[in-house]
Amino acid sequence: MSDERRYRLYLCAAMHCSAAGRAALHRALVQQIAAAGLDDATELRDSGCQNRCEDAPNLTVWPGPMRFRRLRPADVARLVIDQLRSGMPPPDSGTPH
Ligand code: FES
Repeated sequence: MSDERRYRLYLCAAMHCSAAGRAALHRALVQQIAAAGLDDATELRDSGCQNRCEDAPNLTVWPGPMRFRRLRPADVARLVIDQLRSGMPPPDSGTPH
């Protein structure tokens, strides 16, 4: 991992988030990060359970943390990528679902 990357995205890969669509979300994140030209600034990692299973699937972004809950692939560009493009994400925010 490069220390020069500005953002680390931790996508929960544990049971509840996997059952709630984690694989499709991972594909959308990879695709949208590349489409936005943010590959060099972003690292996408799997995480263990983030203890918010009722809000699966969960994504946490650092710096922040900025938390996305019940994130859907269709929302990745609008919610996640737009926040990364805007610079430092606001702390501890999430998606209203
Ligand atoms: S399984 Fe993802 S938050 Fe618990």
